Amino acid sequence: MIKLAHPIIEEDERQAVLDVLASGQLAQGPRVAAFEAAFAEYVGVRHAVAVNSGTAALHLSLLVRGVGPGDEVVVPAFSFAATANTVLHAGARPVFVDVREDDFGIDTAQIEAALTPRTRAIVPVHLYGQTCDIERVAEICGAHGLALIEDAAQAPGATHGDERAGSWDTGAFSFYATKNLQTGEGGMITTNDDAVADRARILRSQGERTRYVTEEAGYNYRMTEIAAALGNAQLPKLDARNEARRANAARLAKLLRANERIATPRELRGRRHVWHQYTIRVLAGREARDTLQTALRERGIETAVFYPTPIHRQPLYQRLGYASVALPVAERLATEVLSLPVHPALSPADIDTIAAAVNELTSAP
Ligand SMILES: Cc1ncc(COP(=O)(O)O)c(C=O)c1O
Repeated sequence: MIKLAHPIIEEDERQAVLDVLASGQLAQGPRVAAFEAAFAEYVGVRHAVAVNSGTAALHLSLLVRGVGPGDEVVVPAFSFAATANTVLHAGARPVFVDVREDDFGIDTAQIEAALTPRTRAIVPVHLYGQTCDIERVAEICGAHGLALIEDAAQAPGATHGDERAGSWDTGAFSFYATKNLQTGEGGMITTNDDAVADRARILRSQGERTRYVTEEAGYNYRMTEIAAALGNAQLPKLDARNEARRANAARLAKLLRANERIATPRELRGRRHVWHQYTIRVLAGREARDTLQTALRERGIETAVFYPTPIHRQPLYQRLGYASVALPVAERLATEVLSLPVHPALSPADIDTIAAAVNELTSAP
């Protein structure tokens, strides 16, 4: 089976984990601090605060940027549910905006119509590893005094112009097992703001600046030393692994035959895509997409649908009063998208097998 994702754990990464086990300190120690410093430098910001998931990174980012009950937060409707669920965790209300077909990111032309006096923040998502139109989102946030929290879970190393994802204001990353940088579970908050970083550090660890002195009702969102050891070993390899994804995506783009049945993804000008996913669209919609997915599986090629339901159509949000929200692009993309394997452990022969199968299955009878 050609898998959709395959964690690469090399000998130095194994050894780094074994060193933690031998060290006697398994949680929140020197390796976490080192990972934070290295990640901040990599993203090009003053601070990085390590946490134990991307969900925790989003939740804390919202809290430290002052989002709370009575507030609204603008989010794209086509993303992983955590993008919106964390707004609920913060006690606020997500306001869904439609997305674009070309980069799968928030449609910035529709953001201003969604703003109200209660809007406190915007959480754009860099879906599949390519930045959204973050420059325009930043302009809107600046003009309206809103917090900008980038959901960069899928895009460590992606750039937009000269800026790295996660460096625009407050950034939230995930290091889940299938992500471009993989610590099993893990996340990071990035910021240039000393106060934001300071409060995130307090909230991640029980609301304590000093041990057993409770300043706030904080959480246990601490990263383990085991996860940080993997992060430290992988971060120097991230650019090379992203380059391998880029080479695989370029090979797929070259080999996949253009036809009226599928649309292939593109890297937009001025953006460096890190290909967390290589996501084609099956234009005839859900039935044809699902048939292609089944046929590829029968040929030993694993694919996935990210995501089959836009967030506002999830049962939770239907119950919460979003049943009348209609976002046509997000709703259509959910019926069309199919992510093909693009991860760095694939060989050129694997890519050739994938492209040949897709070409054959989508060519006219
Ligand atoms: C776009 C997006 N946001 C948030 C998350 C949440 O990250 P995690 O699974 O580490 O909590 C993920 C990853 O699963 C994601 O893909």
